[in-house]
Amino acid sequence: MSANSFLETAVTIDTLEVAERTFMTRLRSPKIAPAVTPGQFLMVSFPETSDPLLPRAFSVCDASGDTLSLLYVAVGRGTRRISRLMPGEPLILNGPLGRGFPEMAAGQKVWAAVGGSGAALIPILSRAAVKAGSNLHFYYGARTRRHLVPFNDVTGVHHATDDGSEGFHGNVVEMLKKELQAGTPDILLGCGPTPMLIAMQKEFGNRVQTYLSVETPMACGMGLCQGCPVKKAGEKDYHLACKDGPVFKSDEIEFEMQP
Ligand SMILES: Cc1cc2nc3c(=O)[nH]c(=O)nc-3n(C[C@H](O)[C@H](O)[C@H](O)COP(=O)(O)OP(=O)(O)OC[C@H]3O[C@@H](n4cnc5c(N)ncnc54)[C@H](O)[C@@H]3O)c2cc1C
Ligand code: FES
Repeated sequence: MSANSFLETAVTIDTLEVAERTFMTRLRSPKIAPAVTPGQFLMVSFPETSDPLLPRAFSVCDASGDTLSLLYVAVGRGTRRISRLMPGEPLILNGPLGRGFPEMAAGQKVWAAVGGSGAALIPILSRAAVKAGSNLHFYYGARTRRHLVPFNDVTGVHHATDDGSEGFHGNVVEMLKKELQAGTPDILLGCGPTPMLIAMQKEFGNRVQTYLSVETPMACGMGLCQGCPVKKAGEKDYHLACKDGPVFKSDEIEFEMQP
């Protein structure tokens, strides 16, 4: 564990279903919540059980005072269990871990492309942008309008849906390509599934300073198991996503998976 991370038993406040199969759980976590920066993650496990065996990694969706929230799609053992936690029930958190997004600056024009569980980053990035006085716009893609989480307190969110049921008809990279014909941000952030990150690196990596948050599966989250390799660009060597990332400059990494 790094000097700035904690192992903490957090207490569930509540859980809401915010979009199709998508849940937001708020937790009281007085040590970790004040220490988190956007893009950092937590390793989450359940007390007094080894099911699921390994902890799961989650981005911190928002953090304010002693409270933080997780946003997740209930797809498997870990996420379904979290979605069933009752108020007052404990959850073990290890974090904040990893290297998040660079600090935003006053007046800086920032665009963030988000998709899938990458939408978890919208509230915490928005909070950081307001604090810094930067000009942040989100390009948020989902399969249909039913899969879009309504972030009512966040401004500057532009939607794209694969079926055209809300906003731009197409994926978020196609929407960004169109936007970039009219203007360019100072920096571009990407959080979402690997094919989306690969497309962003290919389309925008050479034109705009781009930072990508990778979703490499993790077992320990702390640089111990070597189980989260991300290839270093132009080298035979590897970064560790949990320690050197999960946020990397686009030109620091090479994706080995084809889109
Ligand atoms: C740094 C980092 C941050 C992450 N942040 C988040 C986050 O904020 N929110 C979040 O929901 N997840 C996040 N994940 C993924 C998370 O760690 C889990 O892998 C995921 O939530 C599934 O866990 P599970 O135990 O429910 O499913 P498992 O039981 O591990 O898997 C069940 C099945 O679902 C599949 N599956 C896993 N993820 C998805 C998916 N997104 N859509 C469809 N099928 C899937 C698996 O391949 C498997 O077949 C993050 C991962 C990393 C590495
Ligand atoms: S998850 Fe174990 S080294 Fe990264």
